[in-house]
Amino acid sequence: MSAVPSAGNGKVTVPSILERKSAVPTQNSSPASSPAKITCLTAYDYPTARLLDEAGVDVLLVGDSLGMVALGYESTLPVTMEEMLHCTRAVRRGTRHALLVADMPYGSYHDDPAGAVRNAVRFVKEAGAEAVKIEGGERRMDLIARVVDAEIPVMGHIGLTPQSVNAFGGFRVQGKTAEAGEQILRDARAVEAAGAFSIVLESIPRELAAQITAELRIPTIGIGAGPNCDGQVLVIHDLIGLSFGHKPKFTRRYANVGEIISRAAAEYCRDVQQGSFPSDEESYHARAEQAGALIAQRK
Ligand code: KIV
Repeated sequence: MSAVPSAGNGKVTVPSILERKSAVPTQNSSPASSPAKITCLTAYDYPTARLLDEAGVDVLLVGDSLGMVALGYESTLPVTMEEMLHCTRAVRRGTRHALLVADMPYGSYHDDPAGAVRNAVRFVKEAGAEAVKIEGGERRMDLIARVVDAEIPVMGHIGLTPQSVNAFGGFRVQGKTAEAGEQILRDARAVEAAGAFSIVLESIPRELAAQITAELRIPTIGIGAGPNCDGQVLVIHDLIGLSFGHKPKFTRRYANVGEIISRAAAEYCRDVQQGSFPSDEESYHARAEQAGALIAQRK
């Protein structure tokens, strides 16, 4: 399956995302003259994709975070290509306007580069993604360039890259020393030089994110990287209150869907047990003569 982005009708495309790069502020520029910030949320299924797309979200990311928030894994490391493709197809069916980006899961781009490009192509050809996201900075330069060369736009991802959780020794804020900050700056430059069209900055000091945003020509999309990025991304389950466990400081809960689901399920159980569900109005009825015969048989 594939989707051809057609310009117009509000369709968000890779070029239209590039146009949303904020101008470097000058003394005379006002916030109103900057392009609107890019909004990005994760989606892993058809109904969520439809709702987010209809709400006007610019970019839907089928993140490998689905492994943790939707499949219950402890990290993103076990997520497979097949799981990612399955969810990307569902999100594709629910997305009309937003740009659809699929995350390359751990192991799908770590051995031979040809295999990595083949996996990136699968997202476009078999699932309708319009771009892929790849974690890593300097050391992914060649790979990003190869994927871009295969006509697949790449979103970079640096800072706290969750697929490096074992190397980092946990999910920790990155770039907190001058040396670590310099490395992240080099990573950002490398991702841009390799041809990425945008870059996710995850869990880094806001000052560092602001510096990267000012320096790069491609838009930065922050998560735990402060307000000065060109856009923001959040995991949808965190935003709607459907995630369990530790709530990172950078998430904001806009709804408590978890509570709504729990309450609805408890009320359903009560109604079934009390016999008030289903009611007569919620039941199908036999024609009069058939009903009569059925009642007679029961006696
Ligand atoms: O997997 C994911 O959802 C992500 C975003 C949080 C950027 O990588």
